[in-house]
Amino acid sequence: MSWVTEFRALEDDCRRAPSAHNTQPWTLRYGDDDIRVHWDPARSLPDSDPTRRDLFLSLGAFIETCLIVAAGAGLPVSCDVAVDQASLRAARLVPAPAVYDTPFTLASVRQRGCARGGYAPGVLDAGTLTALTALGADLRQVPSRSLVGPLASADRWMFGTPEVVAELREWMRLSPRHPRYALDGLTDKAMAMSRVEAAGLAAMIAPRAYRVTRHLGTPALLAAASKGLLRYDGSVLVLVGSAVTPESVIEHGRALVRVWLALSERGLAVHPLSQLLDCTATGTALAATLDLAPDESPLAVFRTGRPLRPAPRSARIPAR
Ligand SMILES: Cc1cc2nc3c(=O)[nH]c(=O)nc-3n(C[C@H](O)[C@H](O)[C@H](O)COP(=O)(O)O)c2cc1C
Repeated sequence: MSWVTEFRALEDDCRRAPSAHNTQPWTLRYGDDDIRVHWDPARSLPDSDPTRRDLFLSLGAFIETCLIVAAGAGLPVSCDVAVDQASLRAARLVPAPAVYDTPFTLASVRQRGCARGGYAPGVLDAGTLTALTALGADLRQVPSRSLVGPLASADRWMFGTPEVVAELREWMRLSPRHPRYALDGLTDKAMAMSRVEAAGLAAMIAPRAYRVTRHLGTPALLAAASKGLLRYDGSVLVLVGSAVTPESVIEHGRALVRVWLALSERGLAVHPLSQLLDCTATGTALAATLDLAPDESPLAVFRTGRPLRPAPRSARIPAR
């Protein structure tokens, strides 16, 4: 059996990779002796992610997950990251002289997830931060309380921007009756919402209601719902780096998933808060606090800590 056929049997595990709004933008094209990683533009977020930072981070997370899964099965596979905008190709997976050298296992890939509920107080210790940095990620630790105000501003911007809300609406699955509930997007469970909260949110952002209530305080009301999220003594980590090419963002996405896997192996969860970067005002203000080199920018922001409840299992499209 060729390595390509063997890898194909592992695709469902590769698909456990994280992606913004759980759009799972990747598509795999199987050749005789290579596997090409493309992306589906219908699964990108042109209004929420106009620079495609999250798209390429997600593709990087997927590529790294593919390599870890292949290594777990003893398949010697490496990746050749080269973005071709014309054919929407991000990388090729190719045969390698040796199995990919990674500390992570299939079990870590299967166990990882985002937890958006409460976290126990406590900041990340210096040893863990050093171990994460050794995975190739430049991380800056910020006290969670310092971002309470910026998160409220970023949420008001997010819920007050019709195009961004439209994409949220498209990718949120706020009831188990949604036809794509088990396949993709953000479910009520994944967002740690009760049935009542999910129904309330669905009603507030329904197109007709939102057109009217957007001017009557709905964004402030929705932003208020996440007010308590950072009001405890916890850690927010910011991944920073140079992101001058799509390839460099993909490399940062690979490092990001390594960090999330390492945290998960320590019983620590993550909750990304990308709106802090997407909102220009809060993104610029945050960058100014980070002592960055001229070509560097913040690429991902997430709180991390010991979750009060385990991360729920998110939906995935099965491999065909
Ligand atoms: C680049 C990137 C950005 C993300 N941004 C956010 C975010 O702003 N808010 C959030 O709640 N989750 C965010 N996520 C997490 C995804 O929603 C999550 O990975 C996806 O729903 C799949 O769930 P899982 O990671 O639990 O498997 C982001 C993930 C990635 C890879």
